[in-house]
Amino acid sequence: MALAPKTNLKDKFHSLYGVDPDVMAYAPGRIEILGNHTDYNEGLVLSSATDLYTYVAVKECKSNSAKIHSFDMANTEELKLDDSLKVKIPGKWSNYIKGVLLELGRLGKLTPFKAVIYSEVPLSAGMSSSAALEVSSCFAFGKLFGIELDKKEWAKLGQRVENNYMGLKSGLLDQFSSIYGEKDTLILCDFRKIEVIDKVKFPSDYVFVIVNSMIKHNLVESDYNLRRESCERAAASIQKKFPEVMKLRDVTPEMLEECRGTVDFTDYKRAAHVVSEGDLVIKGIEALRKGDIKLFGSYLYASHASSKVNFENSCPELDFLVEVSRSIPGCIGARLSGGGFGGISIHLVKKEMADDYRKRIAVAYKTQTGKEPQTFVCGVGCGAGVY
Ligand code: GLA
Repeated sequence: MALAPKTNLKDKFHSLYGVDPDVMAYAPGRIEILGNHTDYNEGLVLSSATDLYTYVAVKECKSNSAKIHSFDMANTEELKLDDSLKVKIPGKWSNYIKGVLLELGRLGKLTPFKAVIYSEVPLSAGMSSSAALEVSSCFAFGKLFGIELDKKEWAKLGQRVENNYMGLKSGLLDQFSSIYGEKDTLILCDFRKIEVIDKVKFPSDYVFVIVNSMIKHNLVESDYNLRRESCERAAASIQKKFPEVMKLRDVTPEMLEECRGTVDFTDYKRAAHVVSEGDLVIKGIEALRKGDIKLFGSYLYASHASSKVNFENSCPELDFLVEVSRSIPGCIGARLSGGGFGGISIHLVKKEMADDYRKRIAVAYKTQTGKEPQTFVCGVGCGAGVY
């Protein structure tokens, strides 16, 4: 399904460059619903695409560089299509573009172009604005350069940008959800098979209210990579007793308990989180199937408690948002979503109470922290495409 951007990208492109673009592409952010830090442990995640997108419009041109204007950053970058792409400038949005172009350059010939970008996905909030930028630019530039890949390979290309160029040892969840997301549907992804193995409709009488703690979540500078190392150490240690264990995906709660004394205590806590998240994903999808939304909501709370205590990827502000949600009418579950260490919390709220809920939680958060949170209802959008 081709999307009409909320802002007319074609007109913006025309007003800037005086011509129409050749290709336009879009890619959504994602909401991680259950299954925190399970993707790089080859486990399961329940996620969805957001109805907020990043759009890229591009046209081939005669010059010796690529010119890209970002409307949300109010910034234009001119990139030479040569080895200088390897030079990363700390904090620059265009690093993601450079990483994408380097990857595309391994698959085909890069030709000079003009592009514009417009993003609705909140930045550094835990909704994968970076994956939305990688995927939308991959789709737009890939089409322009005549590079064809299947969806899974596009997701892996985006992940390589994060892993090799940005230095974040992330899994495939973000790019995968951005590409495979389906309107009004939650997708169950298996990151061993690297497939969507199940889907469930999102209940129409509930919505996700997103409450952004405004604590900047910058995973490259956070302890994300340390968490991953901890999970890998735990799996290696458990493997000594249970040789069939390749990743934490293979560990049951009973196995973990048996190894409690031999796994380093911090690594044990990280593993306990990942193992219980895998379990919550399965129970969560069952609850949704049975229409037991309250039970499903209780799993969101359980997931957050495990993040707070075992994985230690929450922060006092996110803990407050989740805790206070229990006392505001309409909410039946809340948790941090995504990498953690700041960013957003997701709140499962009765649709007709969502506006009131947003106001109340904003007041509570401001009173507690002095910070104005960003709050909005986030719909479940469709996966990335080209038009
Ligand atoms: C970030 C990473 C993902 C995933 C989540 C946590 O969004 O990019 O790969 O690990 O954190 O589930």
